[in-house]
Amino acid sequence: MSEAGRKPPARPAARGSIFRVGLLGRGTVGGAFAELLEARADSIERETGLRPELSGVLTRSHGDFDDILERSDLIVELMGGIDPTRDYVLRALSSGRHVVSANKQLLSQHGEEIFDAARSGKVQLRFEGAVAGVVPAIRVMGETLAAAHIERVHGIVNGTTNYILTEMARTGASYEEALAEAQRLGYAEADPTEDVTGKDAAAKMAILARLAFNAAVQLDQVSYEGIERLTADDIEYAKELGLSLKLIGSAERIDGGIAVHVYPAFLYADHPLASVNGAFNAVTIESPAITEITLSGPGAGGIQTASAVLGDVISAMIPPPSLPAPAQDVPVVTDTEFSFYLHLEVADRPGVLAQVAELLGLQGVSIKSVVQKGLGDEARLVMVMHPVLESKFRAAVELISRLDFVREPPRVIRVIEETF
Ligand SMILES: NC(=O)c1ccc[n+]([C@@H]2O[C@H](COP(=O)([O-])OP(=O)(O)OC[C@H]3O[C@@H](n4cnc5c(N)ncnc54)[C@H](OP(=O)(O)O)[C@@H]3O)[C@@H](O)[C@H]2O)c1
Repeated sequence: MSEAGRKPPARPAARGSIFRVGLLGRGTVGGAFAELLEARADSIERETGLRPELSGVLTRSHGDFDDILERSDLIVELMGGIDPTRDYVLRALSSGRHVVSANKQLLSQHGEEIFDAARSGKVQLRFEGAVAGVVPAIRVMGETLAAAHIERVHGIVNGTTNYILTEMARTGASYEEALAEAQRLGYAEADPTEDVTGKDAAAKMAILARLAFNAAVQLDQVSYEGIERLTADDIEYAKELGLSLKLIGSAERIDGGIAVHVYPAFLYADHPLASVNGAFNAVTIESPAITEITLSGPGAGGIQTASAVLGDVISAMIPPPSLPAPAQDVPVVTDTEFSFYLHLEVADRPGVLAQVAELLGLQGVSIKSVVQKGLGDEARLVMVMHPVLESKFRAAVELISRLDFVREPPRVIRVIEETF
């Protein structure tokens, strides 16, 4: 280790001080992290009194690790792999630098050694981005659920395989076709082996099990199966039975021990993971104290993972605040766009729909769909509108409610149109 590597970092304290971040790796996640850090530096400085700045960047062709270490308060490791990453991370921790990493392979194979180094160096090691991208499973297990006795963790922790299985179910495509589509869209790498064999998910489950049960689980103790041998037929028949197929990671307490597996499994529709589709990830944590909590969101991607990494950097810079940052002068908007459902009980006579449509049109409200039902002398009009400013819609409804053929006060319910 170089002399420089052993020097403890100067801990900045005063408002306006620079907090120096050394970045190892500037690929998909590292590149997005560098951009995000620059974009968010002003607001982080406002909130923490410290301004995070890149002190150096290491790639295969650029930068020197010892030099970057000497000039950094914290090292962000986004190189991936084990060598030379393990050595760099250990050196950073033992020289008193905080480390933030998204490297599931490193943590699932050398976690104990790295945790020990962080403990001895009295520094922080944070790794939210290593499991399920931006889904805050690690933070929730380590902080919010610190007092809960966790019995089981179930997860969809690999977005590539979830995308492939979702496409097979949605389109009837074969495994090979769905994989090719995932590669075309950038959800799967040119060499998808780690993802489709379940090894990537196994590494993430080893980390989750380590945290959930406080047991030294390593990747080689996780048994895993992948999705390569699944057929469109299996998925099609299962659909008829109301089942959906997912690559599930499971870590649970069994007979005084723990078991960690990754396997494809059919889920009934009301399982919390059954509706997690596409490249999304989700983690369900079960404990008698909380019943269960499911967290879901984007499981990978440069900007998404970078956002989890920067969250870790901010937490390492200052103790997590128990109060929100001082409020900014941001206007609160009250009149916003919504899509609306409108239910009218009307007299059944010619021209009713036309008059309602005219009043809506005068306020710029456009109808997306309409159902009209005759009920003897009476009729029911049910409509869904395209998104419109609430004030305009309410003005139209006020006018409509005064029409003589409207028999009851109109009923209005908002419609959320997004699908996930
Ligand atoms: N991509 C995602 O969506 C995602 C999601 C969650 C977690 N992660 C994790 O984040 C980490 C980075 O992933 P990524 O997708 O950003 O990888 P990437 O695109 O392959 O980028 C890796 C970066 O590290 C540099 N690097 C690799 N080996 C190096 C070495 N020996 N010395 C110096 N620099 C080296 C590369 O340098 P060059 O530029 O010179 O090649 C490149 O800049 C991995 O641990 C990965 O598992 C990724």
